[in-house]
Amino acid sequence: MFPDEGMEEEAVLDELRKKTSRDLTFNSGKILGSMCTYPHPLARRVLSEYLDRNLGDPGLHVGSQAVEMEAVGMLSNLLGLDKGYGNIVSGGTEANILAVRAFRNLANAEKPELILPESAHFSFLKASEMLGVKLVWAKLKEDYSVDVGDVESKITENTIGIVGIAGTTGLGVVDDIPALSDIALDYGLPLHVDAAFGGFVIPFARSLGYELPDFDFRLRGVRSITIDPHKMGMVPIPAGGIIFREKKFIEAISVPAPYLAGGKVWQATITGTRPGANALAVWAMMKHLGFSGYREVVRRAMELSRWFAGEIRRIPGVYLIREPMLNIVSFGTRNLEKVEEELKRRGWGISAHRGYIRVVMMPHVRREHLEEFLNDLKDVLTR
Ligand SMILES: Cc1ncc(COP(=O)(O)O)c(C=O)c1O
Repeated sequence: MFPDEGMEEEAVLDELRKKTSRDLTFNSGKILGSMCTYPHPLARRVLSEYLDRNLGDPGLHVGSQAVEMEAVGMLSNLLGLDKGYGNIVSGGTEANILAVRAFRNLANAEKPELILPESAHFSFLKASEMLGVKLVWAKLKEDYSVDVGDVESKITENTIGIVGIAGTTGLGVVDDIPALSDIALDYGLPLHVDAAFGGFVIPFARSLGYELPDFDFRLRGVRSITIDPHKMGMVPIPAGGIIFREKKFIEAISVPAPYLAGGKVWQATITGTRPGANALAVWAMMKHLGFSGYREVVRRAMELSRWFAGEIRRIPGVYLIREPMLNIVSFGTRNLEKVEEELKRRGWGISAHRGYIRVVMMPHVRREHLEEFLNDLKDVLTR
């Protein structure tokens, strides 16, 4: 009910504290199944200082817009492009929708179709419904990467583009993007890489010596990439990233916004008013951590994943769904639903709705949390 009279600030905050006391927090170490993490202290400071900046009206916040473009530039460089075109957006969902929208608008197909792996994120379902683009699902191979032959066999004159995934949501699998890129070039189709999760992992893991396929703009068929700073980039929610190889993709999704206080601009994002502070935090975190800082974050996460996978393998009745490629370890057990329910009852933030339990080694996840989790898992299994 809308309150008749206002309350004191402290009373409001007290009530909020009570109402949110049931939330799990990242600092507790109990959240193991999320791709988000605690806000880095620097990002917190940036957010509180620049909360009023609106990138939907960049004429008013010219400096912030320039910083957003610098952040887009840094992300493009990380992904192998000298100069890319894009925006800091609300997350991987918006980024994927923008890529599909650009492909559709440039293709002019009568009945547009997009070919994507069965492992693709559900954001493409939203894109499909909103944009009137039919999804054509490509099968997965035994290793859960997309079957490139199946992708090729599904190309028709209505195909507007192909999607490959660099870090699937469930298992962290990186598709054979080089082969998808070749097909895209052969058929003159654009390839979109959903690296919402892997974008802030793969470049660093490769520099640490982990063998992972090429996945970015170094492959000529790749036309756009989703990369989310609010996942392994350690920037507070919401902060996603969409990068296009060429300006024409941005132009294909831009609409005029004529009556803003700062003057007429063209907007290429779904949201109009949008948080400048988060884009500034993306910039600030990349400046602060640099390649070497993120590499250390990824080193810890990858080492923890390999250790955890080894521990999982030693528990009778528990099996890995596949060897981890990135910092995601997914496993199955007998009586999965019961095991999930009991682990949840003990306060663990995990889920098994995909048919397995997924543990994402985000920066807030420490070995002691995982040891505690493993003890609980073993205990639950012996009941
Ligand atoms: C591969 C992939 N793409 C897209 C998304 C959607 O990102 P968001 O939840 O930030 O919209 C996710 C989220 O987990 C993801 O894993």
